[in-house]
Amino acid sequence: MSIKEKLDTTKIPQHVAVIMDGNGRWAAQRGKDRLEGHNQGAKAARTTVEAAAEIGVKYVTLYAFSMENWNRPKEEVAGLMALLLSSIASQLDDLIKNNIRLKIIGDTSLLPPEVLSQVNNAVAKSQQNNGLTAVIALSYGSRNEILNAAKKLLQKYQNNPFDIDSLTEEDFSKYLYTYDIPDPELLIRTSGELRISNFLLWQISYSELYFTDTLWPDFSKEDFFEAIYQYQQRERRFGKTSQQIATLK
Ligand code: IPE
Ligand code: IPE
Ligand code: MG
Repeated sequence: MSIKEKLDTTKIPQHVAVIMDGNGRWAAQRGKDRLEGHNQGAKAARTTVEAAAEIGVKYVTLYAFSMENWNRPKEEVAGLMALLLSSIASQLDDLIKNNIRLKIIGDTSLLPPEVLSQVNNAVAKSQQNNGLTAVIALSYGSRNEILNAAKKLLQKYQNNPFDIDSLTEEDFSKYLYTYDIPDPELLIRTSGELRISNFLLWQISYSELYFTDTLWPDFSKEDFFEAIYQYQQRERRFGKTSQQIATLK
C-alpha cells in the first residue's frame, strides 16, 4: 500500500505550512551554484502544491523568502527575485487551469517594482479560483507582521476610542496578513534545521511540528504524504487530557 493510500481521508489538515529549507546545501553537495538549488526548490514547491491539492488540503503556505533573507548576498537576492518572476510567468496558466488561488503574505512594499506588479497580477488573475489556496510568504517576518497588526489596530482606533478590555485574540488576528486563513494544523520544515526562523509565530501556537532531514529540492509527493501520515498518528490535546479526548470521540 502506498503512503498516500494509508492516509485517513477524514483527517486531512485544512492548512499545511512549509519552511522550504536546504536549497543551498543541495547545490553545494553537487558542486553547483546556490541558485541551481533554488531552481530545483521551485520545482519541489510546485510538486508540493499538487500533492496537497490531490488529497484535499485547502491551504498551503510556503515560506519562500524571509525578511532576514534580504541580508543575503546581492547576487543571490537578485537571482531569487528573477526566479520568482520566471516561475510566475511559466506557471500562471497552469495555476488558473488547476483552480488554485494565489495569495501573498509579507511586506511586499520591499519587493522590486517589476516583481511586485507581476505578483499582484498573478494574485488578481487567480482570485476567482476556489480550489486550493497557495499562500506564498514573501519578504515575510512574523514579528514584523505582529507589530504591523498592532500599529494598524492603534491607527484605526486613534480617534475612535474603544473598550480595550473587549479586544479578543480573534479580533487581533484580523489585523494579520493571514486574517482570512485558518491557522495551520501542521508545519513542516525540511533540511534538518530545528527552528522556526520568524515564521507564523502567532498562527502556529498549536500546530503540529514535523521536521525532516530531506533537503527541500529532494522533497517529493511521497515525503509530503509521509508528513501528513505522521501528523495523523498524533493526538492533538489542546491542553486537555488524553482521556477527555477519548470520550469526545
Ligand atoms: C531555502 O534554502 C531557500 C531560501 C531561504 C530562500 P536555503 O537557501 O536557506 O538553503 P541552505 O539552508 O543554505 O541549505
Ligand atoms: C528560512 O530559511 C526562510 C525560508 C525558508 C524562506 P533560512 O535558511 O533563511 O533560515 P535560517 O537563517 O537558517 O534560520
Ligand atoms: Mg536555509
